[in-house]
Amino acid sequence: MSAVRVGLLGLGVVGAGTVSVLTRNAHEITRRAGRDIDIVKVLARDPRKARALAWPKERLTTDAGSVLDDPTIEVIVELMGGLEPAREYVLRAIRAGKHVVTANKALIAIHGNEIFAAARESGVVVAFEAAVAGGIPVIKTLREGLAGNRIRGVAGIINGTSNYILTAMRERGVEFDAALREAQALGYAEADPHFDIDGIDAAHKLTILASIAFGIPLKFDQVSVEGIRTLESADIVYADELGYRVKHLGIARRMARGIELRVHPVLIPHRRLIANVDGVMNAVLVHADAVGSILLHGPGAGAEPTASAVVADIIDVVRTLTTDPQWRVPHLAFQPDALSDGPILGMADVESAYYLRCEALDRSGVLADITRILADLEISIEAILQKAPAPGADHVPVILLIHKVREAKVDQAIARITGLAAITGPIRKLRVETFD
Ligand code: NAP
Ligand code: HSE
Repeated sequence: MSAVRVGLLGLGVVGAGTVSVLTRNAHEITRRAGRDIDIVKVLARDPRKARALAWPKERLTTDAGSVLDDPTIEVIVELMGGLEPAREYVLRAIRAGKHVVTANKALIAIHGNEIFAAARESGVVVAFEAAVAGGIPVIKTLREGLAGNRIRGVAGIINGTSNYILTAMRERGVEFDAALREAQALGYAEADPHFDIDGIDAAHKLTILASIAFGIPLKFDQVSVEGIRTLESADIVYADELGYRVKHLGIARRMARGIELRVHPVLIPHRRLIANVDGVMNAVLVHADAVGSILLHGPGAGAEPTASAVVADIIDVVRTLTTDPQWRVPHLAFQPDALSDGPILGMADVESAYYLRCEALDRSGVLADITRILADLEISIEAILQKAPAPGADHVPVILLIHKVREAKVDQAIARITGLAAITGPIRKLRVETFD
């Protein structure tokens, strides 16, 4: 049988990793796919760029049309990133009857509903395993391995760059900016790292996970998003003293009143496996009714770990080339006409435990004032810690752990405590997840 001809859009970190894996493991891959896979054309922006990967010049182009309009190409692998022209190229490929593999979570989270509708119309596959958690096969696990379950929730460390930065700050005392530069040099960060550190990349991935877990349309604009930029080293240190690690999590949970979709830093008890997932590693915890809880762990970014997922998708597509479209696994796990559309809860309606830190004047009665405000609002305190003042300072850090409560109530308490004359500066609020 002739080789499957593939067009690659993008020869950056993941593009080059994909070519390397396909080349190095060609024999093994053909044994699995049943056909040879041949990358016949590669699109890039700058033909003169020095590349670590030796790639024949005659197979490199800056003309998207020469890849997208080539009738002999059956599969397009989009590894350019960004929304445009990636969206335009993917839709053009789909309308030309080509299957698509992509690692572009922004594209799927924001334009996935349109892309999957176009793919259904053209009877082609759009595969996107590499879009979530790099090398961890989490999409396949949720969509196929757990297909018999009612999934209750998914929580994960799903941005490798943020986890790398938090780990470098805690373990090596590296400053935030220096840790980010390291992550960029290692090829983990997005072209615009603001997507990583402000939680947007994690929100893209959570959008996709929630859709596949619960059978809902992709709803990126309804995710509550906070990143790690405003975290202070002091909170990482105090959390450690209290027995917690600070991690950046994406959480999607089915609640009685609706679905929680949120991305933010949280404190997790040291004893939990997910609290010990460090560096660029990602981990996704799934709670489902039949299987119980499972934790998927592995590298969340980087050239070859991501290429591992891209190549698996290419092999899947090659295997399905002869399958009738109606017998293929649905893009979002559930049949397209069976997606449900419940409410998504805003942060004010989320229930969580909390860590609060404020700076208070070192005088009597301050703690009593704070605890009175919490008692008036029926907020229960789990632990309270007052640190010694820094040399020469007249104020002390006060740290409170409070039991599970609606976020709207905590915000009310914070507003009242901030109004006390003895409180200097803003109150830091972090959510706590014990996974009990
Ligand atoms: P990258 O290193 O910046 O590579 C992007 C590639 O696309 C480059 O080769 C670039 O060409 C080409 N390109 C970009 N815009 C183009 C345009 N308008 N026309 C033609 N070529 C264009 O990015 P990456 O890190 O490989 O990421 C690619 C995708 O994978 C993104 O969607 C990202 O979110 C996703 N992803 C990345 C990782 C990771 O660890 N890096 C992990 C999972 C998913 P030049 O080389 O000529 O500049
Ligand atoms: N920038 C992303 C991250 C790449 O750091 O997780 C993997 O999706």
